[in-house]
Amino acid sequence: MKNSLIAVRNGSIAAIYKNILKRIYFRIDPEQVHDAMTHIGQRLGRYALTRTLTRLTFGYTHPILKQTIAGIEFTNPVGLAAGFDKDGVLTDIIGSVGFGFEEIGSITGRACKGNPKPRLWRMKKSKGLVVYYGLKNAGCDVIAKRLALKKFFIPIGTSIAMTNDASTATQDAGIADYAKAFETFATIGDYFTINISCPNTCMGEPFVEPTALDALLTRLDAIKTTKPVFLKLSADLSNDHINGIIEVADRHRINGFICTNLTKDRGNENIKDANIPPYGGMSGKLVQDRSDAMIGYIYKRTRGRYIIVGCGGIFSANDAYKKICSGASLVQMITGMIFEGPQVISEINRGIIELLKQDGFKTLSEAIGSKIEHHREP
Ligand SMILES: Cc1cc2nc3c(=O)[nH]c(=O)nc-3n(C[C@H](O)[C@H](O)[C@H](O)COP(=O)(O)O)c2cc1C
Repeated sequence: MKNSLIAVRNGSIAAIYKNILKRIYFRIDPEQVHDAMTHIGQRLGRYALTRTLTRLTFGYTHPILKQTIAGIEFTNPVGLAAGFDKDGVLTDIIGSVGFGFEEIGSITGRACKGNPKPRLWRMKKSKGLVVYYGLKNAGCDVIAKRLALKKFFIPIGTSIAMTNDASTATQDAGIADYAKAFETFATIGDYFTINISCPNTCMGEPFVEPTALDALLTRLDAIKTTKPVFLKLSADLSNDHINGIIEVADRHRINGFICTNLTKDRGNENIKDANIPPYGGMSGKLVQDRSDAMIGYIYKRTRGRYIIVGCGGIFSANDAYKKICSGASLVQMITGMIFEGPQVISEINRGIIELLKQDGFKTLSEAIGSKIEHHREP
């Protein structure tokens, strides 16, 4: 489809979303809306015809957006972040909506109901969400059984976390839980993410500590897989913490970092909503600056040795491009899609091409880390 036609198409969908659909959705409990969207997405993914119609409505492709990263071919750099498709039931439709890849999960060693409801709130003024799901998912066995023989249309990452209950109270039990999920998914999907940064579990984030992380990664290194492995980092880490994590990562099978997960910081000056719950992690614009800063910090410190996936507060092409120029090879999002509508994915991809042209770049890879001083290994 011609670029101008796509612009008109996206403009029309954006108007419908903003003026009608969003007004309705934002009056309903957010978890209910999320469940309904998941149900619709699952149905649309089932048939070739509905997948094609969805692609015509939302899709966009351009050769300049293609990249091969860690041996995986991505048709565009914008992915769906972990937490939207917790049980991996949307893998057939996410590519048609315009995403270049998807991360399913987080998936844990055993099934997990998550925290009691309510556990998802909108921060309308601050353009974020408060998330307190607590790793609700069907567990690695059930999800792997369903996905084992599936052919995926886009690269699929599997986010692995630790079951959120008392069974993982000790470090050994926690490691065994991660290892079970990792082993179960060793040949399913295209890459792994080790989520050590869920802010909503009863055990906290024990594997942020270098010694515990070293023990976890030593165990996971022993499991045979050809899939690249990423570590997903909390938005609330200090530079000292990040340095410690990089040192540990250097000794293990880690290809890169996902920056970042949610933030818990209630002192964040961008919080404009009153009466937000005191627990749960915050997404969207509340995490954007931290995500951008961490991407730049890790890229500069490691001189581009690690692949960085930028995540947090992407609502526009400018937001995504800033992360790319700070060192991200790929980006992920959830909250921006909820606030702006699903057409925002192809708008971001279209916008990235314009921004590349403005800066005189012929490929995406030329832009990666371009705003960071001394950005490449000599
Ligand atoms: C509803 C919801 C559930 C989430 N669940 C997970 C999860 O299970 N695992 C994970 O690694 N991140 C999870 N996240 C964090 C996102 O993957 C992402 O890091 C964060 O929301 C920042 O991106 P955004 O501002 O584009 O939403 C969740 C986020 C949301 C909004």
